[in-house]
Amino acid sequence: MEDMETKMFFGDAAVFATPMLAVFAVDLTEGKQADPQPALLTANTAITAAAQTLLESGEFKASLGEVALLHAPAGLKAERLLLVGLGKAKDFSLDRIRKGAGAAVRAAKPRSVRNMAIAFPDHGALTSDQIASLSVALTARALVEGAEIAEVDFDIYRSDRKDSEVYSLTLVAADAADATAREMQRNFDEGRIVAAAQNFARSLVNEPGNVLTPTVLGARAKAMCDEAGLKCEVHSSAKLQELKMEAFWAVAKGSAEPPALIVMTYEPKTTPAGAPVIGLVGKGITFDTGGISIKPADGMEKMKYDMAGAAAMIGAMHAIARLKPAVKVIAVVCSAENMPDGRAYKPGDVVTAMSGTTIEIVNTDAEGRLVLADGLHYAKTLGCTHLIDAATLTGACVVALGMINAGLFSNDETACAKFVSALEISGEKYWRLPATDDYRDHIKSEIADIMNTGKNRYGGAISAAMFLKEFAGDTPWVHLDIAGCAWNEEKKPWIAYGPSGIAVRSIVEWVRSYSA
Ligand code: BES
Ligand code: ZN
Ligand code: ZN
Repeated sequence: MEDMETKMFFGDAAVFATPMLAVFAVDLTEGKQADPQPALLTANTAITAAAQTLLESGEFKASLGEVALLHAPAGLKAERLLLVGLGKAKDFSLDRIRKGAGAAVRAAKPRSVRNMAIAFPDHGALTSDQIASLSVALTARALVEGAEIAEVDFDIYRSDRKDSEVYSLTLVAADAADATAREMQRNFDEGRIVAAAQNFARSLVNEPGNVLTPTVLGARAKAMCDEAGLKCEVHSSAKLQELKMEAFWAVAKGSAEPPALIVMTYEPKTTPAGAPVIGLVGKGITFDTGGISIKPADGMEKMKYDMAGAAAMIGAMHAIARLKPAVKVIAVVCSAENMPDGRAYKPGDVVTAMSGTTIEIVNTDAEGRLVLADGLHYAKTLGCTHLIDAATLTGACVVALGMINAGLFSNDETACAKFVSALEISGEKYWRLPATDDYRDHIKSEIADIMNTGKNRYGGAISAAMFLKEFAGDTPWVHLDIAGCAWNEEKKPWIAYGPSGIAVRSIVEWVRSYSA
């Protein structure tokens, strides 16, 4: 799988020769009026003229992700003109642009269109405040991200896979002032880096448990780090014991596959004394059977994605290595397989985490918080001053938020606010849930300091967060429960079925917000 080649071109889209030129359209109607009013997001009169008849036909409604294709459009150099709907003008956002670019690429694929172009949306084309106020730089970034993410299909294990690669994509923008063009190009380049990192994370999540064991995850992370110029150490059972990571080891010991403790370090050339050190901690359960508290068979195959948090951190480090923010970043990935076995940990066991906290095991299926407990503590001992973790942690989070928003928890308003600001650029959706001390009772144990489940199943995502919070301690910490958002159950016009790569973009942006 070669990466699609993407570039920016400044000039007149009408005279740009390409097999397919995509142009965006919005629906101008506001209420539930009967007839949609599609309007193109371009000031290019030749393109508008070519699309006129189709637009007036009423066939194309410009709903989000809808496409209409015109061959041999009059007055254009392009062989085809593709109209791509972005939905109602009043709902316009950067995220719609990202999805629209994706829909354009995914329309090209089944048609075997290998090379294509997208007309950069002219924000001034319509009188809508929301559209006019969007930054062209962030638009460039959203376009390339959406396109790169959409290009990938996870069908490497299918013998009947059709090659539907799009080889090249050009964003054609009207001539701009030098400074603006440079700013657009810079954001475009950043978008490419971040999207490549997200696709790398997705490719890891797609791998089945028999292929991607903890050891293999470690090897893939190491290979990425070698190529990107990051320091990377991959440890296993002996190191867990040496560090007294009994919580992590408890989960790992039931599997014939050894665990992997993956530590990746990015260090800028210089950082001022007292500068923050960012710690990224990922849950890397390469398969979660539930262990002795075994899961039901139905849907268990999906638990190969229980390392999506780890993949997000490995992906984020790939982007960080290339974007080079002025802040030190250490990623700690805790990878193991959660299996039932004669040597597996059991309900009722008591283990002492690396931090010294004793934990009563109530359910061996609540394994993610155990590996993260030692990962978070270890990151602090490595000098991290700010922590973020990502994990497919609880089914309860999926019950609470569905598959649209991921769960966001934090013990620190500043770190949390920075994360929320990062979402404006990443376009990802998170909804904050509480992790305040009044929930501390959820994890109180009669036997040990804490237990690894809540008292009952109510507020299960919060119980898990409260457990992690014990190990973050006073260190500013953000926790992302991505259980509902890491796997796309349905194909969308802008993204394939399967791994979503969620959290990569937001984590990268959050890290950059600490750059000196
Ligand atoms: N990996 C699962 C979380 C999960 C469950 C993700 C369903 C996606 C869908 C996690 O390890 C787990 O099993 N959590 C348990 C915790 C419970 C035993 C306290 C859960 O959510 O049921
Ligand atoms: Zn589990
Ligand atoms: Zn799990």
